Amino acid sequence: MTEKRTEELVKMDADHVIHPMAAVGDEPDEVMVEGHGIYLKDSDGNEFIDGASQLTCVNLGYSQQEIVDAAAEQMGKLAYCNTFFGTCNPPNIECSAKLAELTPGDLNRFFYTCGGSESIDSAVRIARTYWRNKGAHSRYKIISLYNAYHGVNMGAVGTTTLKQGVFSSYVHPLPAGYMHLPSYYCYRCALNKTYPDCGIECANLLKYTIQAEGPDNIAAFLAEPVHGTAGVIIPPPEYWPAVKKICDEYGVLLIADEVMTGFGRTGKMFGTDNWDVVPDMSTLAKGLTGAYLPFGAVAVGDKVYEGLKGASVFGFTYSGHPVSSAAAIKAMEIYVRDKIVENSAAMGKYAMDRLNTELADAPCVGEIAGLGLMIGIEMVADKASKAPNFMAAMKVGKEIKAKGLRARAGGRIAFTPPLTITKQEMDKALDILIPAIAAVKPK
Ligand SMILES: Cc1ncc(COP(=O)(O)O)c(C=O)c1O
Repeated sequence: MTEKRTEELVKMDADHVIHPMAAVGDEPDEVMVEGHGIYLKDSDGNEFIDGASQLTCVNLGYSQQEIVDAAAEQMGKLAYCNTFFGTCNPPNIECSAKLAELTPGDLNRFFYTCGGSESIDSAVRIARTYWRNKGAHSRYKIISLYNAYHGVNMGAVGTTTLKQGVFSSYVHPLPAGYMHLPSYYCYRCALNKTYPDCGIECANLLKYTIQAEGPDNIAAFLAEPVHGTAGVIIPPPEYWPAVKKICDEYGVLLIADEVMTGFGRTGKMFGTDNWDVVPDMSTLAKGLTGAYLPFGAVAVGDKVYEGLKGASVFGFTYSGHPVSSAAAIKAMEIYVRDKIVENSAAMGKYAMDRLNTELADAPCVGEIAGLGLMIGIEMVADKASKAPNFMAAMKVGKEIKAKGLRARAGGRIAFTPPLTITKQEMDKALDILIPAIAAVKPK
């Protein structure tokens, strides 16, 4: 591609590109041209620590040459191969066997997609197909949580409850059969309870809802192990074991959305590993290739696999793409060989220790939550009122960007750097982030 000046690129973009999540017609304000390690560079030569791993997907940082080489080699050998009916390809077979070594329990079979939303859509389809194949035609309802982000295609958007005005109001009517429950957001408990005296009432509500709706009408319960897009909200340790028990009691399928939490993000290989829970299915994407290529999967346990036998499932042109599979094989090799998950746990703990100590007296910090390298800091007007302070979070976001650190800054500031980050790099990032947060004054 020819090198073009920033203004020229911005104009071409404005003339031709419709940006996801932006108001249509808004002009772009940055052009990213390079990445190296944990750093991103824009077309004006500014370099940033990518404290968000962009969309919490560049788990292995940029310029991992081994992934580049693996994908290029496969592209030269067999650039595309469908996996419809009985056709398969070696990288996809090897990718599946490798995945099975990493995924918890009996999650040993994989249906492939091109990303997170497609994985959710596919998991919903698989859950409904499972029940229909068993003759349980009324079991189609899918329960998910408020504060959840599971993607935006029409199969996923009914499960996404975060910012419904943005993600779903423009595209009504949504498909039928989706229900929602209050989430495990203890800092702002929808049930007005306080942990641990609450007795995990939010999990008990799942039981109540299944009973009230009739278990024969519920296909699956779907949740993120940790809410990611909502700004990193972590459930109490009892939550996942409790919902697993309830789902098992009523035969409801448990689906863990590991699109963001998967592949080391929470300091364990998968989010549910934190609580030793094995779901019936989990959805994967982002970290599967470290975001080097679009790829996703639904991991399926024995019970669901057996129940699906004989049913004909759907598929996508790019399901099991050989080049994405080759990239995923190499990414998985790096996660294990370079102890990336262990680094996520260690660097996450180090960051949390510094944040908790150095922000202990910060007047506008409501909550600091962290699991591995998924860290969320909720900005409030003041600690007593807990009133949300979106403006402060956005101001912090702008200030740190001016100093060379990018993080997602909505109501909560989400700090989710690449899992390859070193202690020195972490200190550099925190030396920018902590003073910016500490400086926010109560209104
Ligand atoms: C937990 C979770 N599920 C699903 C998705 C949707 O993934 P995609 O944007 O690849 O469709 C996301 C994206 O952020 C996510 O965080």
